[in-house]
This record gives sequence, structure tokens and C-alpha cells, in this order.
Amino acid sequence: MKTALITGITGQDGSYLAELLLDFNYKVIGCYRRSSTNTLGRIQHLLNNPNFNLEEFDITDPSGCNSIISTHKPQEVYNLAAQSHVGTSFKQPSTTFEIDTVGVINLLEAIVHFSSSSKFYQASTSEMFGSNYAIDSDGTKYQDENTELLPQSPYGIAKLASHRMVQIYREAYNIFGCCGILFNHESSRRGENFVTRKITKYIGLLVNHKISEPLKLGNLQASRDWGHAKDYVKAMHLMLQQDMPEDYVICTGQTYTVENFLQKAFSVVNLNYMDHIQIDPALYRPAEVDYLKGRNTKAISNLNWSPEISFNDLVEEMVLSDIQLTSSVAYV
Ligand code: NAP
Ligand code: GDD
Repeated sequence: MKTALITGITGQDGSYLAELLLDFNYKVIGCYRRSSTNTLGRIQHLLNNPNFNLEEFDITDPSGCNSIISTHKPQEVYNLAAQSHVGTSFKQPSTTFEIDTVGVINLLEAIVHFSSSSKFYQASTSEMFGSNYAIDSDGTKYQDENTELLPQSPYGIAKLASHRMVQIYREAYNIFGCCGILFNHESSRRGENFVTRKITKYIGLLVNHKISEPLKLGNLQASRDWGHAKDYVKAMHLMLQQDMPEDYVICTGQTYTVENFLQKAFSVVNLNYMDHIQIDPALYRPAEVDYLKGRNTKAISNLNWSPEISFNDLVEEMVLSDIQLTSSVAYV
């Protein structure tokens, strides 16, 4: 039985990845950080699984990283822990750097010293492209593994530093380290302050007559390549099953604006989004990534991976799930 250690187990991706690896008969060590409130909601259904164990952990604590890696010597380490909100990274740049860069160094050092054969997955991001893109012969703008990374948020810069760090540990110490450059991926388990979930939760509250104020949003013109988290965790696992460690872009290859998402989500309940939203300039970011549209040719050919859940099905799943969730009497 293989052991996999997942940091960020309480997050969206942590929960789906744990389910996948338990299905593949792994022993899973899920690392969570201490909190004054319960953060285990997304993994509640896994807590009684005999192959699933929780360990308290904070990636910014080097001794904790050393201890957890030397104790478990896992075959696979998936580093999903992060301050993952781009907007927040402008308000908390140092904390973001501490978690998303220094934390990754802590984990890599622990692997080098205590478990150098552990395979390592790093959650890199399309936010690292910033506003950069390539243009193909028919004029389509896209990003892939060869597109220069020019981040323009503290989060993007912190993630680029850790991305390069993994590449350097691969070259210098022969660590089997892979970076997944994942484009936006969502689900009914998405954090409520990301734009997709903010919209679908609002629709749930509206349909259940629990809100009367309009939905406040920032920039509606940014384009994102949105996939489903359940598809994307499969790619993380596949990267660590290859003969050679490499970095991969993981995306759908399609792009939609925030306004397109709004339109689609409100149409699921036959409403017009224009009747329910208000633009709030305070929600605009100091710098914005305007356009993300990935190209997943490498993942298709090397990993035999491609996304299975369409944009329309993703939006519908999120809306219906939030209508159900917000219908509970307890939900306010
Ligand atoms: P998420 O829901 O925000 O989860 C982040 C996880 O990191 C949570 O479990 C959080 O714990 C944990 N964490 C934060 N600070 C920590 C610390 N100091 N020590 C230990 N754990 C800490 O993010 P996600 O959507 O699942 O994304 C997973 C990873 O992929 C992140 O690294 C993210 O940056 C990256 N990524 C995400 C996307 C996307 O579209 N979802 C795209 C590209 C890359 P708490 O529950 O205690 O806060
Ligand atoms: N969060 C949020 N809230 N975003 C808004 C809002 C709002 O009220 N109004 C408009 N937006 C716009 C943002 O300006 C951005 O252009 C777009 O909606 C998407 O924002 P988010 O859902 O917060 O995602 P993100 O693209 O900034 O970051 C996500 O994807 C990255 C991959 O590209 C996060 O999951 C990152 O962790 C991830 O790395």
C-alpha cells in the first residue's frame, strides 16, 4: 500500500484528491492547520476511513515539515497548501509569500534531508502567466508550458518563486518534483470568496428567498479557463506516475468571461443576472489578469489526460448544489 501525504487537505482540491487516492487504495495522510473553528467540513465523510489519517501541520513551520516527512516517508507528497486568494494576496503579500514560497522551501528541504525518494507535486498556477499569452497562426491567444511567466500579483509571484524552486531541487538534488500549472478549477466545494462560488451561492440564497440585496461584483470582463476540480486532481496523480518528473499545463482550452459565467448561472434558474448585480469598484484588483486560455496538448499526449466535465455541467452542478445547501433552515 502506497502512502501519500496531502497538504491543504481541508481545501477544495485536498478533498477530491484524498477521495481519488483512497479509491486507488493509498494510505492518505491529510495535513491540516490548527484553527479555532472547524475546517474539516469538506473531508467529514472521510474521517472514519481506516486508510485516512489527519496530522496537524503548518507549512510555515520548518521543524513541523521535517517531522511529518521523516515520520511518514511518504511515496508521494502533494503540496496543495496555500494562501490561494489573489485579491487577498494584495492585502497580505508577506503572509502569502511566507506560505506559498517559504513553506514550499521548508517541504522541499525536509524531502531532501529525510525522504529523498518521495515524489513531490507542487500546485503551480495559471496566475503565474500574468497578462502574458502566445498567439497562434489563426490569431488565437493561449498559454502553455512554453509561455513566459510574468506574474502581476503577490500570489502569482510567490507561486512563481516556488515553481522555480521545485525545478531547481529537481536539477540540483534529483528530486522527483512536478509542477502542475493548473488553470482555474471549481466545484460545489469551491471556497465562497472565489467569483464562481460567490455567484452560485448568491443564486441559492435568492431562490430560497434569503437575500434581497444585489450581488456585488468587481471586474466582469476578465476571461478564465474554468474546469472541474474533480478532473484536475486526476492529472496531479498522473504526473507522479510518469517515468520522468515534468511540469504540465492543466486546463480545458476554453475561455469564458466572468459575465458569461454569471449569464449561464442565472439562466439555470431562468433569471436575468442584470436584474440582480451591482458593480462595486472596491472589488476591482490593483492589477488584473485579463485573459487565461490554456493549451493542454502535453497533458493529453504524455498523461493521456483530458477534462471530462463541461463548463455548462460545472455551472449547473454548482448552482443546483447551492440551491440545495442554502435551502436548509440552518443556513443563513
Ligand atoms: P483552497 O481551497 O484555498 O485550499 C488551500 C488549503 O491550504 C486549505 O486547506 C488551507 O487550510 C491550507 N493552508 C493555508 N495556509 C496554510 C498553512 N500555513 N499551512 C498549512 N496549510 C495551509 O485552495 P484549492 O482551490 O484547493 O487549491 C489547492 C492548491 O492549488 C493551492 O495551492 C492553490 O494555490 C492551487 N491552485 C488552485 C487553483 C484553483 O483554481 N482552485 C488553480 C491553480 C492553482 P485552511 O482550511 O486552514 O485555510
Ligand atoms: N473573487 C472575486 N470576487 N473575483 C471577482 C469578483 C468578486 O467579487 N468580481 C469579479 N471578479 C473577477 C476577478 O477580478 C478575476 O478576474 C476573476 O473574477 C476570477 O477571480 P477568482 O475567482 O478570485 O479567481 P482568480 O482567477 O483570481 O484565482 C483563482 O485561479 C487561479 C488560477 O488562475 C484562484 O483559485 C487561484 O488560487 C488560482 O491559482
